[in-house]
Amino acid sequence: MCNYARFRAQGLTSHVGNLGAPVDAQTLENAALAAVAAASSVDEIESVRIEYLGRKSELKLALREVRDRETGMALNALRERLEAAIDAREAELARAELDRRLTGERIDVTTPGLRVRRGHLHLITQIRREFEDIFLGLGYSIVDGREVETTRYNFDALNFPPGHPTRSPVQTLFLDEDTVLRTETSPAQIRTMERQQPPIYVVCPGRVYRRDTPDATHTPTFHQVEGLAVDEGITLGDLLGTLDYLIKALFGETRRSRFVTNHFPFTEPSVEALVSCHMCDGSGCPVCRHSGWIEVGGSGMVDPNLFEFVGYDPERYTGFAFGWGLERIAVLRHGIPDLRELWRNDPRLLEQF
Ligand code: DAH
Repeated sequence: MCNYARFRAQGLTSHVGNLGAPVDAQTLENAALAAVAAASSVDEIESVRIEYLGRKSELKLALREVRDRETGMALNALRERLEAAIDAREAELARAELDRRLTGERIDVTTPGLRVRRGHLHLITQIRREFEDIFLGLGYSIVDGREVETTRYNFDALNFPPGHPTRSPVQTLFLDEDTVLRTETSPAQIRTMERQQPPIYVVCPGRVYRRDTPDATHTPTFHQVEGLAVDEGITLGDLLGTLDYLIKALFGETRRSRFVTNHFPFTEPSVEALVSCHMCDGSGCPVCRHSGWIEVGGSGMVDPNLFEFVGYDPERYTGFAFGWGLERIAVLRHGIPDLRELWRNDPRLLEQF
């Protein structure tokens, strides 16, 4: 009848059912304790528990078969000893594993962090945005022009006479006979006026291209912001007031403005704006070539020929326009000695702004 182990009193042989091998309680206990000691992880000790105390373990099967009180007590005592040994070893291994995790995964909040270097906007972009903000504040809108323009918009519509030197491939980058990389942002004036009726108050920032050899004061690509105001009753006084406001906003309240005549094909009269020299404040020094003043950009009253080109009534509308270079503003404001520095993008320069 005894399919399974039958233990008798301690030290006595029993038969383990399936295998039929005789196992005594002491041997079992020794094997179990050796396995407990050898277990090196919580998982392993769980396997030991299943092997020696699980439902199908020799001990459990033997207990089920017990008939006499003495054997029962002995086997139960053995079970308790094994349970205690396994529990103790499990607690020990669990603690060791926790310790290992805590040391391995510990974050030392006192370690200095890796410094994340944050970039920032390029100086030219900063000045462009400032320029835009100044004019948004005055109620202007921002428009985009085209970097690839036709000669019609880049020259004809802007009143450039035939044979004007800027029309020559020596000065201008031609893509084909009728197409150029714009030499100035002024064609945006024409495109804006063709698109909408007055009143017009817009600024158009963007890149322009000229066939210049790079040197301290020339780069073949640079940035301008074109401005255009067209309305009834706009006067030269409006232009000068606007530019004075612009100069103080860009260079500081203490800087003074001055205006002299100039010539551009698309304005009549044409005006060059000057700002008091940042080095000598107007008294004269080598930076301003002893004049006390530095040129900042071209402007003027829109030539009525442009209004005729776009179909506006020149008797009804007047307007002013300006086109200032952003690199020039950067150079004047920050004393950058060489325009090419703004294109080299050396962080040692860029980080200063
Ligand atoms: N387009 C001129 C240049 O590139 C600058 C300029 C002058 C723009 C007078 C204007 C203007 O709109 O009215 O030198």
